[in-house]
Amino acid sequence: MAMDLSWQFLFFSLVTAFHVTVTVAQEQPLRHFCINSTGNFTSNSTYETNLNQLLSSFSLNTPNDRGFYNFSSGQGSTIANAVAFCRGDLNSSDCSNCINDAYRELRNRCPYRIEAIIWYDYCTFRYTSRSIFGVRDVDPYFFMWNSNNVSNVDAFNQALGSLMDKLRDVVQVGTSLGKFATGSIQVTPFQTIYARVQCSNDLTQYGCRSCLSQAIVYIPRCCDSKQGGRVSLPSCNFRFEIVRFYNRTPADIDTNDTTTTGYKSNSSRTTIIISILAVAFAALLISNVICIILRFRKRKLKPQSK
Ligand SMILES: *[C@@H]1O[C@H](CO)[C@@H](O)[C@H](O)[C@H]1NC(C)=O
Ligand SMILES: *[C@@H]1O[C@H](CO)[C@@H](O)[C@H](O)[C@H]1NC(C)=O
Ligand SMILES: *[C@@H]1O[C@H](CO)[C@@H](O)[C@H](O)[C@H]1NC(C)=O
Ligand SMILES: *[C@@H]1O[C@H](CO)[C@@H](O)[C@H](O)[C@H]1NC(C)=O
Ligand SMILES: *[C@@H]1O[C@H](CO)[C@@H](O)[C@H](O)[C@H]1NC(C)=O
Ligand SMILES: *[C@@H]1O[C@H](CO)[C@@H](O)[C@H](O)[C@H]1NC(C)=O
Ligand SMILES: *[C@@H]1O[C@H](CO)[C@@H](O)[C@H](O)[C@H]1NC(C)=O
Repeated sequence: MAMDLSWQFLFFSLVTAFHVTVTVAQEQPLRHFCINSTGNFTSNSTYETNLNQLLSSFSLNTPNDRGFYNFSSGQGSTIANAVAFCRGDLNSSDCSNCINDAYRELRNRCPYRIEAIIWYDYCTFRYTSRSIFGVRDVDPYFFMWNSNNVSNVDAFNQALGSLMDKLRDVVQVGTSLGKFATGSIQVTPFQTIYARVQCSNDLTQYGCRSCLSQAIVYIPRCCDSKQGGRVSLPSCNFRFEIVRFYNRTPADIDTNDTTTTGYKSNSSRTTIIISILAVAFAALLISNVICIILRFRKRKLKPQSK
């Protein structure tokens, strides 16, 4: 009887383990939108054929710009265009798996829709009949947030703002991993904010900056006083948390030495006050010395002037 139960347990464990392995193999989408404003296509239309062939040339060997891919199928008004980009720290097999999943999911979730977009943690993918290569798109968008609150809101917001500004400046120019960077900043000696920021690689420096600026503006609506959050737009996205949720990469920015955060500005204010005191003390000392020298000289000169 007991033997029976333990065999059942073992079997159940194996089935569960197998199930878990299978389900984690495919990433779940974070969000998708079937865009209505660009309309629907009809069954058996040329656009459908083009859409069906969109990824036919896609393989691991397709040359890419550090995780960025664009695809086109067909021509003229029935052309199907797609843009896809993966996180800069992803290898090409994880990247192409994400793009293939994204395409399949979108075709299932948005049948007969001309335009659609889907976001995963690994990649962003969208297709449409309009021209989107190099186009900065900021709609539609979505937010996600960590439900835990921060207690030191002012210092946290100040640090988060300066980290985001710094990463935007770096990402718009690009790193060795494309328009992608991670970075951290200390709020207090006991609290650090970690962030990951990305633009689609086809954007210009100005396009990337303007997309990220728009995303940063959403922080109060998305994740005010929260310990973490994500803002995702079609052309750019970011995430921040108070734990390091990414692996260190060559595109990691150390902002610990900035002097603009709440915690740091306190310490730099202390430094300034100490400097002023030191200068005042030095001035006092020098003036005393000068006085003594003058008095000494006067004393010395007096006899001469006689
Ligand atoms: C989509 O757009 C059409 C035409 O503008 C409109 O009639 C329809 O209500 C919209 N559908 C949805 C689901 O928003
Ligand atoms: C496209 O199809 C969807 C679902 O069938 C429908 O809700 C939507 O209103 C259609 N959009 C337009 C612009 O006709
Ligand atoms: C699309 O084409 C298939 C095969 O040619 C046909 O069976 C089907 O009826 C067509 N559908 C429409 C909506 O025309
Ligand atoms: C990607 O877009 C560029 C610019 O429009 C174009 O020259 C190139 O052929 C596109 N690549 C693919 C695979 O569609
Ligand atoms: C890509 O990275 C994943 C981990 O995310 C790893 O399991 C896989 O083996 C890597 N593939 C290649 C080809 O390096
Ligand atoms: C965070 O703060 C909000 C508003 O003050 C409150 O409703 C929520 O329960 C708090 N969340 C946690 C996890 O404490
Ligand atoms: C910044 O300082 C924190 C706390 O001392 C440390 O954990 C973190 O590794 C530092 N960041 C970098 C990039 O050195």
